[in-house]
Parts: sequence; structure tokens; C-alpha cells
Amino acid sequence: MDKFLITGGRPLHGRVVTSGAKNAALPALTAALLTDERVVLHNIPRVRDISTLRSLLEDLGVDSSVTHEAHGNCIEIETRQLLNPVAPYELVKQMRASILVLGPLVARFGHARVSLPGGCAIGVRPVNLHLKGLEKLGATISFDHGYVDARANGLHGADFYFDTISVTGTENLMMAATLADGVTVLENAAREPEVQDLADLLNKMGANIEGAGTHKICIRGVSRLHGAEHSIIPDRIEAGTFLTAAAITGGELAVELCNPAHLTAVIAKLEGVGVQVVRDAGNGTSGGHTLTVKAGGKLRALDVTTQEYPGFPTDMQAQYMTLMTQAEGSSVITETIFENRFMHALELARMGADITMNGRRAVVRGKTQLSGAKIQASDLRASASLVLAGLAAEGETLIDRVYHIDRGYERIEEKLTRVGAKITRVSESD
Ligand code: UD1
Repeated sequence: MDKFLITGGRPLHGRVVTSGAKNAALPALTAALLTDERVVLHNIPRVRDISTLRSLLEDLGVDSSVTHEAHGNCIEIETRQLLNPVAPYELVKQMRASILVLGPLVARFGHARVSLPGGCAIGVRPVNLHLKGLEKLGATISFDHGYVDARANGLHGADFYFDTISVTGTENLMMAATLADGVTVLENAAREPEVQDLADLLNKMGANIEGAGTHKICIRGVSRLHGAEHSIIPDRIEAGTFLTAAAITGGELAVELCNPAHLTAVIAKLEGVGVQVVRDAGNGTSGGHTLTVKAGGKLRALDVTTQEYPGFPTDMQAQYMTLMTQAEGSSVITETIFENRFMHALELARMGADITMNGRRAVVRGKTQLSGAKIQASDLRASASLVLAGLAAEGETLIDRVYHIDRGYERIEEKLTRVGAKITRVSESD
């Protein structure tokens, strides 16, 4: 298992480029199951979750090929036929987003078997809404041997209300409804930019979707979808992580090729904390995709509550907690989306942070000098927060289990090294 060795205390300076959004690329790849024509996707991040999904698509019998491009990979997929409509436990346990094959497979092939994901490091994370919604569209759902089995002899349009806002739930049902007979209305749908990006792709494939990006999405079913070419949106969480890394090290960093409109809540928090975030105005035809953090002054403690988009993202909560260990005063961090998402706090405490937890609330008292230690990553975003802690700490930090960070960050150690961090990957064989 690889580790990261970080020597802290070096401000980040320079320019870093944002990769494509993992959470937009995953549903885009599964959307290609909805047509027998070729789907070409650009700006796919080179991260492990994408390789996991490609393995799953291969298991299903789907052809895909990858080419390197200037920014990310290009993946071409053609789903002429299906060998096997099964997403096995071995792959689903590595990546819960495997559930995204369910809607497309039932809609186009009438059958899917997907292993139930079970619990994960950050909470229970059920998929009941995905299943309830598919039932509403006419699928028959049953369970056996830890698998969910969904069958349909043609789906039909329906109205469905999400009790809880679910990002992948919205995406799964939106994809299934594109090929259903009649109109589907999804209420209390997720508004995340990744949902909107998926709707853009599906509409390019011939779907008829209105309202993506709002809480009410209307999908008029069509009899077939065709091939399309699409470029994935920038990763707002990766960009937010770099902005925070610059803030915590007191550096000056330009984060390029991001979409500032998707980062409003994160930028507002950083500004509230006392960090200057400069938006590149662009020149009318291009630009406007760079955010520059100018930090170095004192940081102020500021509370945060995670919310669905456009609120402060739960996927930035761990990184923000690390930032608050370096701010003057007490801040209350409230996690409303997942019930067990403070695993990083225990590791931060081992580095000297003063954090008290009570259920979904954590109180961080700063500023504390973090000191390098041997620590362990527990999940994807927690590991990003530990990298930030290592950058801010005095001395050396050794982070174990960085396979978690490789799931969603493209070569983070190389990107950080280019802007002045001292971080190296230590492989088992080294
Ligand atoms: C997606 C993101 C993940 C992010 C999360 C919240 C992907 C691949 N992953 O995960 O990075 O942290 O959104 O922004 O896009 N819920 C139910 N029943 C369901 C589905 C969800 O109760 O059927 C609950 C969950 O337990 C959670 C809440 O709804 O408490 C939100 O989860 P959801 O939006 O579904 O997260 P994911 O789509 O899995």
C-alpha cells in the first residue's frame, strides 16, 4: 500500500490545473449503456474510480478505449450488446457509485443485478430511493444473496418525490426515465452541477430533459438514444481542495480550468476566513476559469454547515476542518449529509488539533501548531484533509492508505510538488 511522505511548512506558489470531475464522469460513462452508438467523453480524470468503473463495464461486455489528451483522458464507449447484466460485489464494494449502472441497464436491457453496497466508512448510505424510484417507473425489484435484482418489460413515466435529496439517485432515475414510455417528473431532485452535466450529455444523445439544475426535473421519454461527444465539467471538489491548500500554507496559488460558479459557497467561506480569492475576469470569449488565492495573513474561525448544492459541499468538510485548525478562535462544523463523516478529526487530533465531537457537530479550537505524525487515511475526502494537515504541519507526516485519495484525485502529489510542496509517494516496493 502506497504512503505519502510530506514535509510541512512550505507555502504553495504557482499554477495548478483542475482535472475533470470524477462525480460527473462516472454517470456519463454509465449513460453510454443507454445507446448502441458510440459515446465519446473528454476531460475524464485519471483516477482509480474511473478504472474501477471501466472494469465493471468490461464485465458487462461493453467495449471502451482510452486515449491520453492534453487535459485528462478521452474514453470512447460502444454498448452494442450485453454479456452479463451483473455488477459484482467485488467492484461495488470498492466503489458505491457502481449503482449508477442500475437505471441504464433496466431501461435498455430490462434486467440488472447489482450487489448491494452495504455500509461504508462515512455512514450507512442506503440506495432505497434509487429502488423506490425504479419501481415507480415500472421495474420489479427483488433481493437475493446480497444482490438487488431489477427487471422491467419497458419502463413507463411517473412522478417521483425524493424524501432525501440524492445525487446518484437523481442521476439513476433521470437516466432510466430517458427511455421510459411517457413523462417522468422528479421532485426534490439534486441540483448538483454533476446532475446538470449528465442531463446535458443525455440531451446531446437525443433525450428530452428539462429542469436539471433545479429541484424539479421533467423527462419526456424517447424510443432510443444515439451517440454523442461531450466534455466533462471541471472537478469543483479538487479545485476547492487546492484553494484550501493555498490558504492553509499561506501561499499564492492560481487554480486554473475550474468553474468559479460551482465554487460559490467554498469561495464565500474562504473569504470569510480572511483569504483573498481573485476571480480572473476573462476576456469575453474565453477565460474566467481561474481562481487565485492570496493568503498569508491571519485566518479567522468561521462556522460551517454542509448542505446540498448550492450549499457548502460535504465533500469539502474534511478539508475545511483542517483549515480551521489554523484559524484563530472556535468554529463549529456541522455535517448534515452523512452521519459518520468525522473520521479525519481523530487523525488531526493526533497531529495536535483541538477538536471535540458531538454527533454531527465538531468544534475546532485554533490556532494549534500541527506536528507531523504517522497517520492513516479512512476515506477519499478525509485523506485530502490529512494531506492539507501534512502541508501545514511542522516536520514530517507519513500518511498510510493513500489508495483512498487515488480514487478521486489525479496525481495529487505531482500537482502539489509542482507548486512547491514537499510530498513524495512511498511505494511498498521502495
Ligand atoms: C454523491 C457523491 C458524493 C457526495 C454525495 C453528497 C457521487 C459519485 N458521489 O454521493 O461524493 O458526498 O453525493 O453530495 O456523485 N440517501 C438515502 N437513500 C438513498 C440515497 C441516499 O437515504 O437511496 C441518503 C444518504 O444516506 C445521504 C444522503 O441521502 O445521507 C445524500 O446521499 P447521496 O446524495 O445519495 O450521495 P451519493 O449520491 O451516494
